[in-house]
Amino acid sequence: MFDPDVLGLFPDSSGIEDGQLSIGGVPARALAAEHGTPLVAYCEQTLRARAREIREAVPEALVVYASKAFPNIAILRLFAEEGLGADVASLGELAFARAAGIGSERVFVHGNAKSDEELRAAAEAGATVVLDAEDETERAASVGVARVLVRVTLGVEADTHEAIQTGHHGSKFGLPPAAAFRAVERARSLGLDVAGVHVHVGSQLADTAAHDETVELLASFATLCRDELGWEPAVVNVGGGFAVRHVPEEPEVRLGTVTRLAADGVLRAWRANDLREPQLVLEPGRALVGQAGVTLYRIRSVKRLDDVTWVAVDGGMSDNPRPGLYGARYTALSAARADEPASETVSVAGLHCESGDVLIDDVLLPSPRPGDLLAIPVTGAYTLAMSSNYNATARPAAVLVAGGDARVIRRRETIDDLLAFESYSNRSETPM
Ligand SMILES: Cc1ncc(COP(=O)(O)O)c(C=O)c1O
Repeated sequence: MFDPDVLGLFPDSSGIEDGQLSIGGVPARALAAEHGTPLVAYCEQTLRARAREIREAVPEALVVYASKAFPNIAILRLFAEEGLGADVASLGELAFARAAGIGSERVFVHGNAKSDEELRAAAEAGATVVLDAEDETERAASVGVARVLVRVTLGVEADTHEAIQTGHHGSKFGLPPAAAFRAVERARSLGLDVAGVHVHVGSQLADTAAHDETVELLASFATLCRDELGWEPAVVNVGGGFAVRHVPEEPEVRLGTVTRLAADGVLRAWRANDLREPQLVLEPGRALVGQAGVTLYRIRSVKRLDDVTWVAVDGGMSDNPRPGLYGARYTALSAARADEPASETVSVAGLHCESGDVLIDDVLLPSPRPGDLLAIPVTGAYTLAMSSNYNATARPAAVLVAGGDARVIRRRETIDDLLAFESYSNRSETPM
């Protein structure tokens, strides 16, 4: 029998009837039959609910979706309908945001190594560029960027995996206060509209302690700018990083609550320094799409060894590198046998040629068989977005499910797609 706590990790529209998992009114079995596996199914109801949760909790903020979590035009459009903008960090993500019709005033262009081409495209799109390095200032001005924020790195070590800390001393992102101060000064002297400041403390943060500490330091920075330069930020973008729960043992984080707390932290720090109340921007990624996404895999083989039972599925690190990258934890449900007793603890392996290609270390399942469908919840963020063609594997499709229908929002790659990238000639037939 399935664990209700595990079902609670699945999207809002999920249910189990006669042992069959369904999402958005579509049985997982039907999704797999029609669209193949691996497949990432996104629940429209959950995507909209998370967007609304933040907007209702922090109505004064502009919420922008950090599209790196899953750059997808259909989802960007759906969020645009909910009043959200987009954080983009590459030419491709910018193109997606534009294709989704997101208004330029809601697009923020990030990156610690932006190319001139990216800066030019940002300028043409009329987007706000988040300056990340002093030497970017001249380049931004020279290609016609009009509006910028300056990303400040305040040396706060967030309580998260080191690979997703970003605001610590020595981070490759942003500028420490002295350099950020010079960037503000320089950008203004070049005629750029320096609208404000940006911070992103880190990701998968279960509380706002690091946000609050950062924002207090940011308010001191803003005060210094006001006193020394006569300039204060009209916009304060506090980034994203709000955690999602992947396994029942992780704490539940209420998105509305943490975003409200983060916003209150800014107001408090700003008031304490007599700064003018800024336009607040929030930039969540995983918190918007993480729980909405479920990956369906087909079990290919079951290997019962003395110390471990390996359940090998038809995907792995090529569609979800997070366990290998930073020890992300997941759980799973036997999607078509959920009402059977969960009797066996197994490890879920991917199909790739790396021993580290393990999706789940330990999970309790009804005694698994080849051909079973496995559903891994909370795989909507940084999975397909970080996917690869390792082992010349074609990447999976993604579908959006709602009201009993599933619509393809990203088609499955084919081997022909992969062959099309290759350039080869039959040299052996070339005469000597
Ligand atoms: C600048 C910036 N904003 C927002 C985000 C989104 O973070 P998360 O998906 O943890 O909310 C990131 C993540 O890397 C980021 O670098």
